[in-house]
Amino acid sequence: MAKSRLVHRTPGDARLLPLGAGGEGHRPVRRARPWQPHGFPGLGVGWCLAREHWGKGYATEAARASLDYCLRELGAEEVISVILPGNSPSIAVAERIGHRYLRDIQYRGQTVHLYGQRLSSK
Ligand SMILES: CC(C)(COP(=O)(O)OP(=O)(O)OC[C@H]1O[C@@H](n2cnc3c(N)ncnc32)[C@H](O)[C@@H]1OP(=O)(O)O)[C@@H](O)C(=O)NCCC(=O)NCCS
Repeated sequence: MAKSRLVHRTPGDARLLPLGAGGEGHRPVRRARPWQPHGFPGLGVGWCLAREHWGKGYATEAARASLDYCLRELGAEEVISVILPGNSPSIAVAERIGHRYLRDIQYRGQTVHLYGQRLSSK
């Protein structure tokens, strides 16, 4: 198995950052983590990288680790992601970690794609 290139900054929420990304992780980018903000349709994994770190596989690696954390540590049976239509890089991350398109939903006043997977379909 390939060695992880990520550092696990905050074990409590499995926030992950690419190793060598620089800084001390104060910027709200370069991470993937479980989250469920108010009104969110389930336990989600979110990902966001600084532009200079796109195209290196970091988001997928971090998202996969966060998904594992949700399923194994948090005991989630289903993990979702909410993605704006047309955000193909994000859809690609979702699909690479095993998420499948579920349906379109209304979230915060807009139509978004709901992706996700259940424990049994991991
Ligand atoms: C969504 C987002 C994180 C995706 O970033 P990304 O760089 O495309 O995704 P990854 O980090 O997983 O990198 C995958 C790419 O790295 C490439 N790659 C290069 N080296 C790699 C390696 N060692 N291992 C794996 N992949 C590698 C892959 O081939 C892939 O390239 P491709 O897109 O040409 O197929 C990024 O576009 C982003 O931060 N967007 C703004 C925030 C956002 O929209 N977040 C999602 C909200 S729903």
